[in-house]
Amino acid sequence: MPTPQFSDFVSIRDFSKDQIISILRRAAQMVPYASGEKRTDAMRGRILGTLFYEPSTRTRLSFESAMLRLGGSVTGFSTPAGTSVEKGETLSDTVRMTEAYTDALVIRHPLEGAARLAADISSKPVINAGDGAGQHPTQTILDLFTIQEAKGRIEGLNIVLVGDLRFGRTVHSLAEALSLFGANITLIAPPSLQMPRDVIAQIESNGVKPKTSASLEEAVADADILYVTRIQKERFADAAEYAKLSGSYRIDTKLLAHARSTLSVMHPLPRVNEIAPEVDRTEHSLYFKQAANGVPVRMAILSMILGAEI
Ligand code: CP
Repeated sequence: MPTPQFSDFVSIRDFSKDQIISILRRAAQMVPYASGEKRTDAMRGRILGTLFYEPSTRTRLSFESAMLRLGGSVTGFSTPAGTSVEKGETLSDTVRMTEAYTDALVIRHPLEGAARLAADISSKPVINAGDGAGQHPTQTILDLFTIQEAKGRIEGLNIVLVGDLRFGRTVHSLAEALSLFGANITLIAPPSLQMPRDVIAQIESNGVKPKTSASLEEAVADADILYVTRIQKERFADAAEYAKLSGSYRIDTKLLAHARSTLSVMHPLPRVNEIAPEVDRTEHSLYFKQAANGVPVRMAILSMILGAEI
């Protein structure tokens, strides 16, 4: 049995640039397996546990597809409703039990730090599928994969992150990874939804000084990637505050008239109203391809964390 190449996947901060590059390379090898063009049984007899305490479409289903495409099996829950969490079972006990039934766990939880706690408890690998407003590190790998596939590189690209930079976990781990790769980062957010200070500090410690901008029109003019995020309604304590901010940004063809023809628009999805459907039909739209890349990227992560040879 090949040796696992890492033990858990909790935070992008746990990975060096070289390790991320090796995951991206493995993901490229997984593409024909992810599409079904090639077949593998590398994970036969292995079981992935999926513990989703928060809603998901892309992350949960692409992890399931990834494990099935690798020849493995999946068990788990898509909501705590109907599980013993409803009877008051703690996260610790749920992890202790489900690790006994599986070979690795994927966890999404509303509390920041939940995946780290699960990894500390579990003797089996734990993968963070989003912890509150913390990180979403496997999304980051698929974002990097998508950027590299579309642009041929990451270094030196002008990448604008716009939307809810405070609660949006995808942009926290993505911004940190982009700084490892030497991208130029511009941040655009309402005053109350700015990027957290610890993320800025991490970006700066990687040698990148992010710019901020108040003008989306100006920022898109020389951007290579416009990465849009949803205002994270579920993280707001005050519904009125959410209502005030929910329409802050809208990407439409009028805005994109200010952009280079090569600008790519990305979004982790789901979108609500921040990208007009008309953008789907333009050459700028990259978000559906980005979501589809979740399967080869998660195949790479699963095969490396479980030590499978393909
Ligand atoms: N990008 C993402 O995490 O999507 P889901 O919430 O649908 O998993």
